[in-house]
Amino acid sequence: MSIVRRVLLSFSFLIASISYADVTNIYQTHCSGCHGKNLSGGSGSSLIDNEWKYGGRDEDIAQVIKYGAPDMGMPAWGKILTDEDVRSLVILIREETKAASLTQMQAELAPENGVIEASGHKYSLTTLAELNGVLWGMAFLPDGSILVTERSGSLWQISDKKKRKIIDVADVWQHGQGGLLDVYLHPDYLNNGWIYMSYSHSVEPKLFGRDKGITKIIRGKIRNGQWQDQQTIFELDDKFHTSAGVHFGSRLAIIDGYLFFSIGDRGDMALAQQLDKPNGKIFRVHDDGRVPKDNPFVDQKGALPEIWSYGHRNPQGMTVARDGKTLWITEHGPRGGDEINIVEKGKNYGWPVVTHGMNYNGTPMTAHTSKPGMVDPLHYWVPSIAVSDIDFYSGEAFPLWKNRLLVSGMASEELHLLDVKGNSIEEDRIILKNRGRIRDVAVGPKGVIYLLLNNRGSKTGKLVTMNPVK
Ligand code: HEC
Repeated sequence: MSIVRRVLLSFSFLIASISYADVTNIYQTHCSGCHGKNLSGGSGSSLIDNEWKYGGRDEDIAQVIKYGAPDMGMPAWGKILTDEDVRSLVILIREETKAASLTQMQAELAPENGVIEASGHKYSLTTLAELNGVLWGMAFLPDGSILVTERSGSLWQISDKKKRKIIDVADVWQHGQGGLLDVYLHPDYLNNGWIYMSYSHSVEPKLFGRDKGITKIIRGKIRNGQWQDQQTIFELDDKFHTSAGVHFGSRLAIIDGYLFFSIGDRGDMALAQQLDKPNGKIFRVHDDGRVPKDNPFVDQKGALPEIWSYGHRNPQGMTVARDGKTLWITEHGPRGGDEINIVEKGKNYGWPVVTHGMNYNGTPMTAHTSKPGMVDPLHYWVPSIAVSDIDFYSGEAFPLWKNRLLVSGMASEELHLLDVKGNSIEEDRIILKNRGRIRDVAVGPKGVIYLLLNNRGSKTGKLVTMNPVK
């Protein structure tokens, strides 16, 4: 390492990321002369055709950048670029590869007479309801109607293309990505009637626009179209409230009488590693809010006793596997590094110490994608798809998709179908593209797939079904 580099690096401990250049600049300065301005090749090979002489895994590509193939005319960059820079170049190559394949993918998934063909099935889309706001979560009631949350604070019940408002949740704090978020039916709903909701909530008066808040969980019942019997299930002390408008987490699931829910890092990533902070955690409480005695950190001084796992960035997808026991989540990565994880008691999922992503401005975060004591993701996306909710497919409408995992993507406007073998992901295909930001996906009682789609600009949302076409 050169003296200059070493000075810069030690300096960067004081002023974060000062020594790092934007990856696009690095590429244009050092690589474009041989690999072309848009990575499509020149005297060096194309880096966006997904053909790899030296291997196609992230590690292989990083290796060849670092050590080069000098005899073949590819210089070694390990003395000029840091491991972090090299990691960012790998992410850039993945981004550009995906961008290059987009036109073809869009053509393959374009509807013909309203019918889309993907992964062995044909389907059409039907809009059940349109609302004037961002739609976030949904749940199926036994009478065939569907509950949908609108982020601005309303819970809607939708049936036969009719919609009625059940409640405006009074203390919803609409702020950035916050608002009324998930809705979830107790598995024993038929007997107990409990409906759970998560939302961002503030108790402080607005002070120069800098009001503060964090995720809260309630449950209640709907009788004759009215919201009743509301109880607070989880609420945090004011000292954990922040003015940040990002990363509220908020997905809900119940397994064996335990309620699991997520809170994101609230934009303060280091706190995801601290057990005395709620940021970047999955929580577990009894379905009435009591703290279970066998939670992993109940006896640890200073730790929040509701914490089940930590080191998460912003988990906004959650579902229970076919065994009825295993909790699957998704979490948003930064630029690159969206993840799928199986959540286990007391485990550390690594954020922000390890990640497959980089900063949004193209500067690196870390060269580390894995470390001992931290759980590797089951699956990750580089580039990020802005991964949101997930559901395992069950039902007869799409038999070839049975037991596969449906994954919604927002910025990418994609629905993915993942082939799951045991606890590993064998294949990842895209089955819907460019119909709107997909915030939630759920398999309905008859095996029809329901989506919540939001438009990028207009802030309107739709409840849409994917129906099989023979
Ligand atoms: C002086 C020209 C030159 C420059 C500059 C250069 N490369 Fe290369 N690179 C090559 C050549 C030539 C090959 C093909 C080597 C071969 O075919 O064995 C190559 C191969 C590669 C490969 C492996 C491709 C494969 O099929 O496995 C990667 C990845 C790569 N370069 C990335 C980069 C990056 C990133 C930079 C900038 C930091 C860079 N290169 C700068 C000439 C260059």
